[in-house]
Amino acid sequence: MSKKRVLSGMQSSGKLHLGNYLGALENWVEMQKDYDCFYFVADWHALSTNYEDTANLKENVIDIGINWLAAGLKPDTCTMFIQSLIPQHAVLHLLFSMITPIPWLERVPSYKEKMENVSSRDLHTYGFLGYPVLQAADIVLYNAHLVPVGIDQLPHLELTREIVRHFHQIYKKEVFVLPEGKLGEVKKLPGLDGRKMSKSYGNAIFLSDTPQEREHKILRQMVTDPARVRRNDPGNPDVCHVHSFHKVFSDAATCAQLDKDCRSAAIGCVDCKKILVKNLAARMAKFDAERPVWAAQPKKVMEVLHDGTAKARKVAETTLRAAEDAIGISLPDFE
Ligand code: TRP
Ligand code: SF4
Repeated sequence: MSKKRVLSGMQSSGKLHLGNYLGALENWVEMQKDYDCFYFVADWHALSTNYEDTANLKENVIDIGINWLAAGLKPDTCTMFIQSLIPQHAVLHLLFSMITPIPWLERVPSYKEKMENVSSRDLHTYGFLGYPVLQAADIVLYNAHLVPVGIDQLPHLELTREIVRHFHQIYKKEVFVLPEGKLGEVKKLPGLDGRKMSKSYGNAIFLSDTPQEREHKILRQMVTDPARVRRNDPGNPDVCHVHSFHKVFSDAATCAQLDKDCRSAAIGCVDCKKILVKNLAARMAKFDAERPVWAAQPKKVMEVLHDGTAKARKVAETTLRAAEDAIGISLPDFE
């Protein structure tokens, strides 16, 4: 029996950080065994918010590739590709844009949220509103059954399904697979200061950070219980971001012990952080060994992405042709 198709994408809007690794990449690697996985760099999506800031676009694409390979995505097992090298994404986006009512897009929570909160860039653009339509095209071009995403992306999946149903209804032909979102195990990792981990907040641990840089950030920058001023003050792990990290990287017994020792001031924050550094290093050991190997051969990384792109493009061509046939815009070839 053939494996179910999985598809997911990552925006190339900045260097990947530890949150991306835990929230997505680890899941992706895991899914390779059981599914026919297609993973792509969403570099057009990156433009939807960063259209003015394109200096690092190429670098970011390669950086993503390096991280994917270092994390254990296997070129012979899954298909890794670059969105902007497959024009079918843009064509299907256009065709979908013809049938997608604007109110559907204005209702998308991430749209409303960013419109209200992002002040550094003007997001009153056509492309930003249409972002989920492009995402719908990304997904259905590859007949994906499952789309592993974070919880914030589920509304986009719902919209994809609405567009697909709408298309089938209008053109009276079932061209696309109706995809489903798949939530990974949620491992909540805050940034060093407790806010959401993000490049723009300056509170991220990047996958490109060496183990030494990581250690430095944890020991020097990571915020602990602010009420614990002196070594002898008892602390409260419930409000401490170091402890949030422990919950992700240390085992349950260690977490329980640290919780107790913090509350009784039996342990100091520096020692608590050092235990975290050690457990984080253990978890990332394989990645840390692989990352420099791939980082040293960017050409090889691009080759992997180009090979994947060639393979993906064939699938996309077939699906787009079927969609054009359903609509009735494919003209016969005149010799
Ligand atoms: N919107 C996704 C994100 O910001 C990235 C993305 C683009 C994507 N196209 C996709 C994810 C298709 C899954 C499927 O994380
Ligand atoms: Fe946080 Fe650990 Fe310090 Fe407690 S001992 S406040 S958990 S860093």
